[in-house]
Amino acid sequence: MSYPYQIKSLEQYREDWKESIENPEAFWGNIGQHFQWKKPWESVLEWNFKEPSVKWFNGAQLNITENCIDRHLKDKANQPAIIWEPNDPNDHHRMLTYAQLHLKVNQFAHVLKNNGVKKGDRVCLYMGMIPELAIAVLACARVGAIHSVIFGGFSAQSISDRLQDAKSEFIITCDGAFRGAKDIALKNVIDDALISCPFVKRVIVYTHTRSAVSMIKGRDVWWEDEVRKVETAGNPDFPAETMDAEDPLFILYTSGSTGKPKGVVHSCAGYMVYTNYTFLNVFQYQPQEVHFCTADIGWITGHSYIIYGPLSAGGTSLMFEGIPTFPDAGRFWDIIDKFKVNILYTAPTAIRSLMAFGLGPLQNKDLSSLRVLGTVGEPINEEAWHWYDEHIGKKKCPIVDTWWQTETGGVLISNLAGITPSKPSYATLPMPGVNPVLVDEKGNEILENNVTGNLCIKSPWPATIRTTYGDHERCRTNYFATYENLYFTGDGAYRDENGYYRITGRVDDVLNVSGHRIGTAEVENAINMHAGVVESAVVGYPHDVKGQGIYAYVIYNGTHGDEQMIRKDISATVSRIIGPIAKPDKIQLVSGLPKTRSGKIMRRILRKIAEGDIENLGDVSTLLDPTVVNEIKTGRI
Ligand code: WTA
Repeated sequence: MSYPYQIKSLEQYREDWKESIENPEAFWGNIGQHFQWKKPWESVLEWNFKEPSVKWFNGAQLNITENCIDRHLKDKANQPAIIWEPNDPNDHHRMLTYAQLHLKVNQFAHVLKNNGVKKGDRVCLYMGMIPELAIAVLACARVGAIHSVIFGGFSAQSISDRLQDAKSEFIITCDGAFRGAKDIALKNVIDDALISCPFVKRVIVYTHTRSAVSMIKGRDVWWEDEVRKVETAGNPDFPAETMDAEDPLFILYTSGSTGKPKGVVHSCAGYMVYTNYTFLNVFQYQPQEVHFCTADIGWITGHSYIIYGPLSAGGTSLMFEGIPTFPDAGRFWDIIDKFKVNILYTAPTAIRSLMAFGLGPLQNKDLSSLRVLGTVGEPINEEAWHWYDEHIGKKKCPIVDTWWQTETGGVLISNLAGITPSKPSYATLPMPGVNPVLVDEKGNEILENNVTGNLCIKSPWPATIRTTYGDHERCRTNYFATYENLYFTGDGAYRDENGYYRITGRVDDVLNVSGHRIGTAEVENAINMHAGVVESAVVGYPHDVKGQGIYAYVIYNGTHGDEQMIRKDISATVSRIIGPIAKPDKIQLVSGLPKTRSGKIMRRILRKIAEGDIENLGDVSTLLDPTVVNEIKTGRI
């Protein structure tokens, strides 16, 4: 299979972009021809951003797994679909060909059905990075159930919140997951979460770490036993459920500026077409290449560019269970050498953390198979960009800096590898179908170049967020109400003289810690749960490796222990309420917070102090009690 809709030159990019904006129906209608449908669409696009209502390929019917698996069986049955590298390099890697993936997804689709899962049911997946996670995701899609994958770094409380929000009655998990030297007891976390979720009917448990788990009679079953029953029944194929184009495919929770994560909903057809199109064009994927995306499937990057994008393109997707520094900082390079990886797609935080180990871990590693490098998740600083370019790409591999969000489903702004120009720390130009604009605070569009503004998108692309689960109004107010008739990204951006975009970071109260999105309000809520805490304010500060670190100012009036212990208690509370990923890097105990007379916390001042910019705090005269500022400055950590 070749890819007829891969852009081949800068001129073609410009033409395609223009056509896609002037006539999106014709443009995406053409791309849509390259997929397998059960019934054709009646209209390519119907939309308004007021409600918002966005419908792509409306009237069509399909199943995404037929596009990701079945249609490749004719030519690629024996090609690896998924290569899996375990956490421990001494354990065996696994390869699943398209034929094997087909068998396993069909088997597990039966397992789901046998356990009562029906079309439209929400199934929560809390597993490590093992092939069974991809199999479970695809099996949900095959039966038409809505998957909700929860990252392994979230706590029981976070899981329980998500289960309740989505009313998920089904869970798929593992006994445990390996991450570096750690063995994380996932099933135990699920058991804790389920204390407050009695509506959960079934938990399917895959054995991975062989750690002790308590299986509850009538509720918990083993994955392996359930698959054996299907094998005994002769392994019949599972006919893929017929889905409407706009039926939801999955929910993925993400943080915003309010205290509660939102369940971002993507639907079947548009998401499929867009992840496939962006995968092929951004990375310029060629048949047989090995694509290594280092993200976790618990995040959108893993959904779109480990599973759906590569598989819908009939590609080979490499999945890695572990972390870049285990057993040593040469692990990525070993994996690239071992599997002759062609595309490496990772996060700036990983690059920065590996840079810190110097060039030693790169010695004797053959990286010559690499053709394209990618980054995602946060702005990449120039130093990291150049290190990646020189030492990993050997100056021969284009670097694609891909800007996008959970809500956008796929990449919106990025250079196309080797086709459109790159510029360090710039995501550069929009994908075809994407019409970005910069607006000022009042929502007026800024037309000039060499300007900074709030980044918005003018019209829908196929993988636009459809709703926030169970609360459509929240979707509207969060993304479509700030500026009329625009999707607001929450990011700021600079546009240079060539029209290239450089993302400058969030303009709302969302932090980006090691490429993970965390809302400051969420962290504050968690800190405030601690019995001794009166009030807290959380801000981000620049962190050499993580991009941003979490700085918490806490008013504490408990009596217990010394300051060191109190900080540990607060951290443990955050870990318990959200998960270890949200633990503050710094906690400063203060007697007051800088507030305006109306009681609003002046975060600007707290941010400056956290950043170490204590001389230029600006006007503090409007504060209720300006003296707290001096105290906070002196106590800065
Ligand atoms: C940030 C991850 C700069 C941005 C795919 C966005 C980036 C948030 C880039 C979404 C990039 C993502 N350059 N910033 N290339 N990619 N971001 O939902 O602030 O986990 O709004 O999606 O990450 O994070 P999310």
